[in-house]
Amino acid sequence: MIILGIETSCDDTAASLVSEGTEILSSVVSSQIEVHHPYGGIVPELASRKHIEAIDYVVNDAIKKSGISLNRIDAVAVTQGPGLVGSLLVGFCFAKGFAYALDRPCVCVNHLEGHINSVFLTSDPPPFPFVALLVSGGHTSIYHVKSYTESDLMGQTRDDAAGEAFDKVSKMLGLGYPGGIVIDRLAKKGNSQSIRFPRSYLDKSKFDFSFSGIKTSVNRYIQTHGDISKEQIPDIAASFQEAVIDVLTYKIITAANKKKCRHIAVVGGVAANSRLRARLLKDASAEGFHVHIPPMDLCGDNAAMIAATGYHYMVKGITSDINQDVYSRSKNS
Ligand code: KG4
Ligand code: ZN
Repeated sequence: MIILGIETSCDDTAASLVSEGTEILSSVVSSQIEVHHPYGGIVPELASRKHIEAIDYVVNDAIKKSGISLNRIDAVAVTQGPGLVGSLLVGFCFAKGFAYALDRPCVCVNHLEGHINSVFLTSDPPPFPFVALLVSGGHTSIYHVKSYTESDLMGQTRDDAAGEAFDKVSKMLGLGYPGGIVIDRLAKKGNSQSIRFPRSYLDKSKFDFSFSGIKTSVNRYIQTHGDISKEQIPDIAASFQEAVIDVLTYKIITAANKKKCRHIAVVGGVAANSRLRARLLKDASAEGFHVHIPPMDLCGDNAAMIAATGYHYMVKGITSDINQDVYSRSKNS
């Protein structure tokens, strides 16, 4: 079965063709970074306008690159939410129209479920059940994943998402948007033990997160130390990053122990962080866990994960009504 996936929930316009939920035939992502960069964050109105400009080209490019003719597409899967409503609507309306014109079913996909299913697009997918740490710009959550379409939320952030904290700290340090990748790069040149920022574990036996405290601590550090020199920035970046990673690593290993799962998946944009990948591979592997992290291009937003998820709904015979609408927040987000 070949599924066309479409994703426009935030600031990436993406389309992909995936065969049997595992084999990526093509994956095209058009990023809007340059559009939002001058503003230090995503401007929703600009994001939807840019999606409108890009969607037709991106979908056609994905089809062309896959070498698949239109009549071989079995269904169109599209992100329904959570995300920015204006952005979601562009991909959603396009997908509905495309599916209708092809006379194929349309499958609505939850963006977070898509991120979790990105591990099945790798050569080393985890067996069920496993625990998943979803770390992105909008979410930081731990799930007990029971099947392609069923997972229980074990905990989530009570305030900022981990990616949001990276982005805000980057802005405080004058490093611009998006912050995660810049902090990741600068942290390599810094000493992560130079500043002791607080680790907010909340209840250590539970799986909720809070990242607003560390963000405030970094801000206070910057303000009380007056003019921060260029040389100090890598130390601040590395110390901040290490504090966030300490918490993420502790919580996902505790969750895996609680659920007696030997397999851990880490997905979402922040899963691209080189230090987080290294720490988890080292710490979790030392405790006998098998860690599954998708390659970089499947960590950030992409449409292959949406097509793969759509495939699993199609296999269960679940398709969506044409009258469905998008949603900005899901019950579990
Ligand atoms: O999953 P994603 O592409 O979009 C959402 O669904 O939110 O995640 C974007 C987030 C941003 O906050 C970005 O700063 C963060 O992922 N990110 C990183 C890295 N690359 C992207 N955070 C830390 N280290 C990275 N290398
Ligand atoms: Zn995402």
